[in-house]
Amino acid sequence: MNEVNNVIVEPGVSGRTVYSNFDNPDPSVVASELSLLSIGDFEPLHFKIDCNQFMHEIAEFSNDWVDYLPRTDRPNNRKSLTLTNLPGKTHRDNPSLAQASVAAGRRLSENEFSEKTIVYDKCHSLHSLLNEFSPLGRTFLVRADMGGYFVPHRDHPQMPRDCFRIAVFLNNCSPTDYDWISETDKKLPIEMGRAYYINTRKTHRTISWVNDSTHLIINVPFTAENVQKVLGSLKHGH
Ligand SMILES: [Fe+2]
Repeated sequence: MNEVNNVIVEPGVSGRTVYSNFDNPDPSVVASELSLLSIGDFEPLHFKIDCNQFMHEIAEFSNDWVDYLPRTDRPNNRKSLTLTNLPGKTHRDNPSLAQASVAAGRRLSENEFSEKTIVYDKCHSLHSLLNEFSPLGRTFLVRADMGGYFVPHRDHPQMPRDCFRIAVFLNNCSPTDYDWISETDKKLPIEMGRAYYINTRKTHRTISWVNDSTHLIINVPFTAENVQKVLGSLKHGH
């Protein structure tokens, strides 16, 4: 165990007030935000991962998963494996932004977690997607066993923000195995292996009803170039 994995995030750390700076907004940031808003909240991209190949590639790391965001106030059944991390960290160093920020004594940027780990290198099934948006921000696998959940929350709701999110559902995320609920009542229609742009600024919650439910979270640096890449990668064009 390292110093980050030993950090227990106290209740309330992830419940901060949303803050946006509306003074002198960068026009390219506003245009990029509008572009992402216009495409929708859960949009399939043309990237489709071979889930069987991925599960074969990830098998050698089966003993390396670490607890993700352990809480002092409740049990939770979820683990992570890191594809990009802070400089000097490995795939076994927990990628939780909250845990790493507590350990560092300052609020870290998602984009500081940009060093590729051996898991990134070994997961060739993911490379066409990952390399498209490289260099990446904090990118990691989440494995939820039965009952593993994330309570309602928002990711990066402020403006400007340092990244946006792409997710891929890689194992046991079919409609009866796993729920990703956006806002209060929108259950996302997940296609296994499909990469999605997800508007995680909207409140969302997740829960797994089975073991070994695995998905990939990519924090893509929020740049006009990367937003253009999303627009150019939509499964459904005009
Ligand atoms: Fe989230």
